[in-house]
Amino acid sequence: MEEQNEKVVAMPRIGEKAPVFKAVTTQGEINFPADYKGSWVILFSHPADFTPVCTSEFMTFASMEKQFNEAGCKLVGLSVDGLYSHIAWLRTIKEKIEYRGMKNVEVKFPLIEDITMEVATKYGMMMPGESNTKAVRAVFFIDPKGVIRTIIYYPLSLGRNFDELYRALIALKTADEFGIATPADWRPGDDVIISPAGSCGAAQDRMEGKEEGLECKDWFFCTKKLDKEKVLKAVL
Ligand code: BEZ
Repeated sequence: MEEQNEKVVAMPRIGEKAPVFKAVTTQGEINFPADYKGSWVILFSHPADFTPVCTSEFMTFASMEKQFNEAGCKLVGLSVDGLYSHIAWLRTIKEKIEYRGMKNVEVKFPLIEDITMEVATKYGMMMPGESNTKAVRAVFFIDPKGVIRTIIYYPLSLGRNFDELYRALIALKTADEFGIATPADWRPGDDVIISPAGSCGAAQDRMEGKEEGLECKDWFFCTKKLDKEKVLKAVL
């Protein structure tokens, strides 16, 4: 086994409480996740300030911040850079960078300084196979109770799809709100999946069409309609 794989690092997992930390950010000090109690929050890392993929990502996320906020979700970024680097980079983005129709973009959400890598290590954002000094592109969705609900990782070279991050947030909130699951590529207005039959009798009833409003592909795979307006009213 290569040396890089020998050190075992505990990583937070879905369903666990988000690890607690205090940090300096571009918007002042934060206590995480306590300061975000009652709200969804996306905590995400990027490899480094003043790099092109990260710049494209920050401009995209900042441009969508209002949309995330309206869905009850706050954004918090992190990289293994210092506060003054963060400030200089965000100023450069606002003053100089035009990208895909975005310009004069102000990043208003906090960007954590993490030179010591304390937070990045706690959250499993450091992946030595990629880099010993840069965090990978990690995304943690944390619910209003401070529980980690989804984790997505991307390597250094791959910019994230922010439409997917928004879709995932809406799907998580919809699942909570309506007690359903969402199938592949689900978007509001698409049919949703109901919990599997819990007994042989229930499975039989479903196959005989005794449960109204369901469409069953088989006894374990039943969907129902969920109105788009109803979803949006509940989650936005
Ligand atoms: C970038 O954001 O462009 C980048 C950062 C680290 C490694 C490779 C690319």
